[in-house]
Amino acid sequence: MAFTFSGHFLIFSIITLAFISFQTEAAIKKYQFNVVVKHVSRLCHAKPIVTINGKFPGPTIYAREGDRVIINVTNYAQYNMSIHWHGIKQLRNGWADGPAYITQCPIKSGSSYNYDFNITGQRGTLWWHAHILWLRATVHGAIVIMPKHGVPYPFPQPDQEAKLILGEWWNEDVEVVETTGSKLGLPPNISDAHTINGKPGPLFPCSDKHTYALEVEHGKTYLLRIINAALNDELFFAIAGHNITVVEIDAVYCKPFTTDAILITPGQTTNVLLHANQAPGRYFMGARPFMDAPIIVDNKTAIAILQYKGVPTTVLPLLPNLPKPNDTTFALNYAQKLKSLNAPQYPAKVPLTIDRHLFYTIGLGINPCATCLNGTKLIASLNNITFVMPKIGLLQAHYFNIKNVFRLDFPDKPKTTFNFTGAPLTANLGTSQGTRLSKLAFNTTVELVLQDTSLLSVESHPFHLHGYNFFVVGQGIGNFDANTDPAKFNLFDPPERNTVGVPTGGWTAIRFRADNPGVWFMHCHLEVHTTWGLKMAFVVENGDGPEQSMLPPPKDLPPC
Ligand SMILES: *[C@@H]1O[C@H](CO)[C@@H](O)[C@H](O)[C@H]1NC(C)=O
Ligand SMILES: *[C@@H]1O[C@H](CO)[C@@H](O)[C@H](O)[C@H]1NC(C)=O
Ligand SMILES: *[C@@H]1O[C@H](CO)[C@@H](O)[C@H](O)[C@H]1NC(C)=O
Ligand SMILES: *[C@@H]1O[C@H](CO)[C@@H](O)[C@H](O)[C@H]1NC(C)=O
Ligand SMILES: *[C@@H]1O[C@H](CO)[C@@H](O)[C@H](O)[C@H]1NC(C)=O
Ligand SMILES: *[C@@H]1O[C@H](CO)[C@@H](O)[C@H](O)[C@H]1NC(C)=O
Ligand SMILES: *[C@@H]1O[C@H](CO)[C@@H](O)[C@H](O)[C@H]1NC(C)=O
Ligand SMILES: *[C@@H]1O[C@H](CO)[C@@H](O)[C@H](O)[C@H]1NC(C)=O
Ligand SMILES: *[C@@H]1O[C@H](CO)[C@@H](O)[C@H](O)[C@H]1NC(C)=O
Ligand SMILES: *[C@@H]1O[C@H](CO)[C@@H](O)[C@H](O)[C@H]1NC(C)=O
Ligand SMILES: *[C@@H]1O[C@H](CO)[C@@H](O)[C@H](O)[C@H]1NC(C)=O
Repeated sequence: MAFTFSGHFLIFSIITLAFISFQTEAAIKKYQFNVVVKHVSRLCHAKPIVTINGKFPGPTIYAREGDRVIINVTNYAQYNMSIHWHGIKQLRNGWADGPAYITQCPIKSGSSYNYDFNITGQRGTLWWHAHILWLRATVHGAIVIMPKHGVPYPFPQPDQEAKLILGEWWNEDVEVVETTGSKLGLPPNISDAHTINGKPGPLFPCSDKHTYALEVEHGKTYLLRIINAALNDELFFAIAGHNITVVEIDAVYCKPFTTDAILITPGQTTNVLLHANQAPGRYFMGARPFMDAPIIVDNKTAIAILQYKGVPTTVLPLLPNLPKPNDTTFALNYAQKLKSLNAPQYPAKVPLTIDRHLFYTIGLGINPCATCLNGTKLIASLNNITFVMPKIGLLQAHYFNIKNVFRLDFPDKPKTTFNFTGAPLTANLGTSQGTRLSKLAFNTTVELVLQDTSLLSVESHPFHLHGYNFFVVGQGIGNFDANTDPAKFNLFDPPERNTVGVPTGGWTAIRFRADNPGVWFMHCHLEVHTTWGLKMAFVVENGDGPEQSMLPPPKDLPPC
């Protein structure tokens, strides 16, 4: 549908909305996001936080598959801002993707930017969050994409739905926490609480006003849209006395399976069906970290209440049975259960022949730092390269051919091979540093193996790729074996998603077709590791025709 973003815009929008009830035409959904500071109190501590429209968590974006969404983000806060629409594929349209200095320069205080994108071939739950500094701690919210008009879910229609956004709360200003850690070269302080819809619940002080409750009617079915918006913690989630059925992950339908708990990493979303079919009562819903690496112990549990209608609030709720924080077995078994629906209407288009084989090692390490407490600082790397943030957007540098911003020599495999998950290396832990990207020809089929290493410490890492979904074709513990492991890949119905955990001391293999031109960030979604440099980007070249090429930048793209 052709139209211009000018005087006809409003009229067009009204006409589209008028037609929408009896036509399957796309609509335009407009949102105003004002970045404002608000005082919020949790755990008996009040502090100013950065929010969208004064809401914590922020407003939900509702759209339908095929819609065009325009969000005017206007920054009234003292920090630079940029917002990522996590999981939206942004076909040929990296300008609207959001990561600061990757696809755009930040929206400065007092400025606006209109994120303008179409939602093509996707439906389900995604989310949006700040993609600069650590501001996503409080600047985040849900994206709910309904299927096209008249298209049902591939599972029984729920009676109602609710969103559960899992997060983390610091009593201190998160920016102070982050910069203090960076200055010292040490890990920043861990959060003071976990939260469900912004509320920590009764295991934390001053919880009387800060406990989320979801009221349900006995006999009804609820679709719960669960989002992990935490900065640094993979989380288990469970509801006391109830099993739940997983039906969708990262806005892709999956083969339904019933479980007593889910595992969800930062960046991921999970839709589950809940049947309110137990004895009417009050049940706790809980979320707490999965941490099977010998690093820190954090079992702080966020609690919300599942409240059956008519049951007095004096009834003491039951606690959920969450897996233990170090329950690796649960995590691996859970990952095994995730499979694409792969139905005729929703096929799993797994690349079967591979043009480019990539193998990236994930390392933590220590580099020299003259100004740090110990003369050293903690860092992280992919193929032994610690990513250095550029000063201008990589997408602009690519599109306008600006020199000396990045190099295109990110290696397809590590320079040196070693026993990746063997005994911790006591050798030199230094890394090389640079803004190094990997170039992919348009429509290349890619297989990427992400290999955790024991450099400094093994740990699980949730990796997120912008601009694409990928298929998780294999996962294992120890070192990936290129001779024997590919034979075990699931190429039939592997889970399709945008964020995947690489197991502690193990590996994950993903496949995707590079058919979306642009510059696409890939990083660990644990913010502490992203800060330490666990990130890189792909430059996907244009294809032959205009339909295979990047769109031109919007006029209001923020300048540097
Ligand atoms: C969104 O779709 C409309 C209608 O097809 C098209 O005119 C517009 O260019 C698209 N925008 C983007 C950013 O792809
Ligand atoms: C975005 O919102 C700001 C603040 O309301 C307004 O000044 C600006 O004109 C808007 N931009 C567009 C393109 O609507
Ligand atoms: C980090 O935690 C320590 C110990 O609890 C505390 O003394 C310090 O003030 C905290 N620092 C920041 C920046 O939150
Ligand atoms: C949940 O599933 C487990 C294992 O399948 C089963 O033992 C248990 O009875 C179920 N609980 C409920 C409340 O349905
Ligand atoms: C956390 O772990 C400690 C030690 O294992 C235990 O005493 C405490 O009850 C746990 N807290 C929660 C909220 O699970
Ligand atoms: C998990 O932690 C518990 C203590 O909380 C410990 O007893 C158990 O051995 C640990 N399990 C594994 C597999 O490390
Ligand atoms: C300081 O550096 C030494 C030597 O590299 C190391 O053993 C020690 O753990 C470091 N301490 C801190 C707090 O980083
Ligand atoms: C790698 O190290 C592990 C742990 O020390 C050891 O079990 C394994 O045999 C080593 N693998 C190779 C190929 O040396
Ligand atoms: C990483 O690179 C640094 C600097 O070039 C080097 O000293 C170190 O040995 C390399 N480490 C590994 C594991 O390749
Ligand atoms: C990408 O490659 C596949 C398989 O070779 C081909 O079917 C498809 O048409 C190509 N897509 C484009 C947009 O060129
Ligand atoms: C905000 O972004 C602009 C543009 O990149 C940059 O020049 C400026 O230093 C940033 N401000 C802060 C406080 O980081």
